[in-house]
Formats: sequence, C-alpha cells, structure tokens
Amino acid sequence: MYLVPVAGSRDFLVTSGSTMAAAEIARQMTEGARNLSLSGHVGFDGMPDQLVNKSVCQGFCFNILCVGETGLGKSTLMDTLFNTRFEGDPSPHNQPGVHIKSSSYELQESSVRLKLSIVNSVGFGDQINKEESYKSLVEFIDAQFEAYLQEELKIKRTLHNYHDSRIHACLYFIAPTGHSLKSLDLVTMKKLDSKVNIIPIIAKADSISKNELQKFKIKIMSELVSNGVQIYQFPTDDETVAEINGTMNAHLPFAVVGSTEEIKIGNKMMKARQYPWGTVQVENENHCDFVKLREMLIRVNMEDLREQTHTRHYELYRRCKLEEMGFKDTDPDNKPFSLQETYEAKRNEFLGELQKKEEEMRQMFVMRVKEKESELKEAEKELHDKFDRLKKLHQDEKKKLEDKKKSLDDEINAFKQRKTAAELLQSQAQQSGSQQTLKREKERKNSGFL
Ligand code: GTP
Ligand code: MG
Repeated sequence: MYLVPVAGSRDFLVTSGSTMAAAEIARQMTEGARNLSLSGHVGFDGMPDQLVNKSVCQGFCFNILCVGETGLGKSTLMDTLFNTRFEGDPSPHNQPGVHIKSSSYELQESSVRLKLSIVNSVGFGDQINKEESYKSLVEFIDAQFEAYLQEELKIKRTLHNYHDSRIHACLYFIAPTGHSLKSLDLVTMKKLDSKVNIIPIIAKADSISKNELQKFKIKIMSELVSNGVQIYQFPTDDETVAEINGTMNAHLPFAVVGSTEEIKIGNKMMKARQYPWGTVQVENENHCDFVKLREMLIRVNMEDLREQTHTRHYELYRRCKLEEMGFKDTDPDNKPFSLQETYEAKRNEFLGELQKKEEEMRQMFVMRVKEKESELKEAEKELHDKFDRLKKLHQDEKKKLEDKKKSLDDEINAFKQRKTAAELLQSQAQQSGSQQTLKREKERKNSGFL
C-alpha cells in the first residue's frame, strides 16, 4: 500500500501495489513532494473479515410469517425448508378468529447460528365473516415495529443484543385452485404490503397440472398488479446476484411442494411425495419451485430481506409514528427540525391543554355547586311554604275546634239551666202533690168520723 500525493492538492491517494505505475507518475507530477511509503502492511483491507467474524459471533436472526388457510401445508413447508421438524400441531377449523402463534428456534449450520422465529396465522380463512382476518396480522407486525422503536427511543438502549422480532419475510400461501386469487388473499396482501416483504407461493402445487399452473401464475401476477399489491422483488442492483434474482422474479409466485418424507430414488434418499401414479420430488426443479424458493429466501436474499425490513418497512412505520408524535424533519419555515424546540412546543401545547382542561373542570365544578345550591334553596323554600300551609291549616282547625267547644259549652250550660229548672219544677210539683194527698187524707178521715 502506498500514499500518492494528489496533483494540485494536499491530499494523498492511497493505492495498492497494483497501481504502482500510476503512483510513480503522480509522484513525478508533484515535484518536491515527499513520497511516504509505509513500512509494512496496514491491513484495513481486513475490515470486511472483521465484520464477518463479528456477525458470525453475534449470530443472526430471521423471522418468517406464514399466512395461509388452515391445512395448506405451511408447517410441512417450514420443516422441508429448514430440514428440521418444528413442533406444530394441526389447527382446528373452528377458531372464532385469527390468532398469531410464534415459535423461536436456534439453528446452526457450520459455525453460523441462526435464531429463527416462525410466526403462524392460526385459523386464517376459517371464519364465515373474513372481514377482520387481516387485523391480527397487521397488529402483530406493528407491535414488533413498536417494540423496536421503543428500544430505539430509550436513553439507555441495548440494540446490539436486542431480540429483533420484526417480520423479515411473509410467505403468503395461495390455495392451488387454478382459478384466481380469493378476495381474502387480495385484501390481506394489500393490507400487509407496506409493512412486510411478501413472497407469494402457490401451496400444494402437486395438485395442479403443469399447463394450469402456468396460467394460474400469470393470472395471480396480473391480479396483484391490477389491485396495486406490492410483493417483494428480489434485488437486481447487486451485480453478483442480479442475473439469478432477475430470472427468479419472473418465476413468482413460486409453486411449491413440501414433504418431510424421504424416499429412495436411484441410490439417493430424496424428499418426495409418493402417489399411486408416481413420485413428486420436492427438490426437483422440473416438479416444483421449492429449490428456487429455498435459494431465494435462504441462500441469496436473506440479508436483503432483513435490510428491506429495516430500511423500508420499519422506516415507514417509524416516520409515521414520529410524525404522529409531532416530530418533523423541518419546521413550518423549512428550517432544520430542532428536537429541543419540538419538545418545548409539545410541552407547552400539553400544558396549555392541561390548563384548559383544569379550567373546564373548575367551571364545571362551580356550575354543579351552583346548580346544587339553587336546588337546595328551592327545596328549602318548598319546605317553608309547606310548613306555613300546615301551620295555617292547624290554626284554622284549632279555631274551628275552639268555636265548636265554645258552642258545646254554651249548649251544656243551657242544658244545665234547663235541667235545674226542670228539677225545680219537678220538686215543686211533688211538694204540691203530697200536700193535696195529705189534704184528701184529712178530708177522708174527717168524713169517716162523721
Ligand atoms: P395448519 O397449521 O393446521 O393450518 O396446517 P398447515 O398449513 O401447517 O398444513 P400442514 O403442513 O399441517 O399440512 C396439512 C396436510 O397437507 C398434511 O396432510 C400434509 O401432509 C399435506 N401437505 C403438506 N404439504 C403438501 C403438499 O405440498 N402437497 C400435498 N398434496 N399435500 C401437502
Ligand atoms: Mg401448521
């Protein structure tokens, strides 16, 4: 490695031994400039190796979301792809809604460790009303973005050993109907396409004939385009993979067959599905696109899927979330955004709202108190009126009774007077009666003697 002075400037161009001649010319061009040759190998050409070593040491994580109707072969395909048997019981068809089941596994291939998460959409497509089927998927994907954003926003963040649960690839399993996409497929993919890298695949492709399959693929792609569904395109900007990725993009959606059963074909054990009329070899490119999917998903584009998740889908989520929170890149006067100013503005806005709420509550309280006070006054007045009425009634009654008593007393007195007079008359009558009797007795006696 050499330092070559750049003509007309104080900069030095660093060049390797292979460009020695050019360096010599440059040196001759800059008369008087010092030629500094390094005493030994500097070695920053080893930086990519350092990066590789560090990444290998840390391990990788990859999260796949499998979306497809119950029994479409999702678990079988995962087992076939990673040559493992992940646990996973078949789901019943009577789920009231779609729910998400996530399982994580630690895989190792030579010295590379992979933390793989397989997320399944349990009960997808089983409900009579499928309107809400996509909701739990969207919520799950957003929840993973939110968790990452929260980690990013922490003062003390640990992103280097953060367990990234964001979905890197969504394998969308299309039923091998040979007709067209179902509305459920289109709606779900449309809702997911801005949040995740969608790779559509035709499941159980051994149940559809070769000609029908070609027509079905074309139909699916045209329906996706006409409905504006953005599926993941294998990148063609890196020239080392541009050709293969370009070819593979033309094969989408991949028609796959899954099987964990191994059958002896020739002198080799191969993954296949056996039928009375023949054998479908999973890894035979003439039989299905399984190898293409494995190549694209795992061998060639795994890192791009991770990168796209971070730079495209997560960025979009983050931007929307931060904008929702009031953060922007520039202020209304097109000046660079200041976090401090936004924070102050938000704080003032919040305090203003708080004060407004407080004032509203205070006024409401005063109003309530006034209302209660007038209610109480009204009740008090009513009580007073009632008391007055009752008092008057009582007085009237009392007066009436007194009058009655007085008239009764008068009657009693009159009666007593009459009674005394009657008694007097009676005693006088008795007296005169007894005097007459005595007189008659005397007369009778006198007459008897005669
Ligand atoms: P759930 O998890 O219950 O929703 O089902 P799944 O989508 O995981 O399907 P699973 O892998 O359990 O497979 C369901 C049935 O389909 C099993 O009997 C598999 O053997 C069969 N199957 C899986 N893949 C294929 C395939 O590519 N072709 C055919 N013909 N059958 C398959
Ligand atoms: Mg399953």
